[in-house]
Amino acid sequence: MSHTLITNIGLLVTNDASRDGTPLGLVHDAAILIGDGKIEWVGSNAEAPKGEIPEVVDAHKMCVIPGFVDSHNHLIFAGDRSAEFSARMKGEKYTAGGINYTVGQTRSAATEALKANAGRLVGEAHASGTTTLEIKSGYGLTIDDEVRSLEIAANFTDETTFLGAHIVPSEFANSPEDYLSLVTGPMLDGVVSNAKWIDVFSDRGAFNPDQTRRILAAGIAKGLRPRLHANQLEQGEGIAIGVEFDAASVDHISHFTDADIGLLAGSNTVATFLPGAEFSTRSNYPDARRMLEAGITVALASDCNPGSSFTNNMSFIIALAVREMFFSPEQALWSATAGGAAALRRGDIGALTQGMNADFSILSSPSYIHLAYRPGVNQIEQVWRNGKRIK
Ligand code: NIG
Ligand code: FE
Repeated sequence: MSHTLITNIGLLVTNDASRDGTPLGLVHDAAILIGDGKIEWVGSNAEAPKGEIPEVVDAHKMCVIPGFVDSHNHLIFAGDRSAEFSARMKGEKYTAGGINYTVGQTRSAATEALKANAGRLVGEAHASGTTTLEIKSGYGLTIDDEVRSLEIAANFTDETTFLGAHIVPSEFANSPEDYLSLVTGPMLDGVVSNAKWIDVFSDRGAFNPDQTRRILAAGIAKGLRPRLHANQLEQGEGIAIGVEFDAASVDHISHFTDADIGLLAGSNTVATFLPGAEFSTRSNYPDARRMLEAGITVALASDCNPGSSFTNNMSFIIALAVREMFFSPEQALWSATAGGAAALRRGDIGALTQGMNADFSILSSPSYIHLAYRPGVNQIEQVWRNGKRIK
């Protein structure tokens, strides 16, 4: 068995509440033993296993955190929408319609170009401390283009999501029911072998509640698991539908009511906030405190996509959540790690406890608080995934 010892950790975040009675499960002056890609032992540096350990890494008293779990990404696309961003910063409003531009660019792109672009973005994500990421289709919207999008996504992650219901493409503008038949029929059949999840953009300008229910039901009937884009642009039934279908997560939730909070509190559905989208669409940030205070499991993700949030930097997302949405630094880090794992219903990632995947980052800072305290400064010194150093 191959072993690595990470020693001399000034502050370790385990996300194991039994360590110190807080959700982050902090251990000061800690060490971690990795065996065959898993966490084998966690404890105080002074009690670290001695003897023949082939690889010993000194964390130089800095902070070690679980790898970020970024549960919401749209990485299979071509083209650039920086002009649209610029127009928004000069006063234009964000609408779902911009998706059509990326659909056109994606359809005419070579598969190798789509693969290279996704690979570059996945590389950026890994280098910024993300060790698990979900990737959606949704910029192809023909059978062939959705199939190839999911084939590409499956090269990079097991957390692949069919989002044929991103928008009704322009050629179906006058016959949306025909597009629904495609998404719930032959397109679904084509992608199912490369998709784990089914998602719907359930919002103004995209899919209505009735359509959302039909699409989720069709995906579930084929073995896919539900998750949802809900209430990004306006208050709607998105959260209620997510809970009704036992979705792993409802994402965006820029609008919600007390009734939505009640529904989520009594469910297994995670509330995932995507503050990069509010930043990039210059929209009001939702008040996450109302969800957090209700005891709802909350995740943070980047929503990396060329339109509404072109960042995959989870440290930046944490900084936004703390500054703009009133997360404490502790809540934000938990939500970007353990919360993301819950949003993907994964029990093997998101915490540094015995038996978990050895996915973590060594920071160049003494505390995780610095992620929000020093926004825009790269503090991800080393990244380890399945016990192997990837940065
Ligand atoms: O999650 N909201 C829907 N889809 C993306 C945006 C897509 C785009 O503008 O290209 C999102 O924000
Ligand atoms: Fe999205």
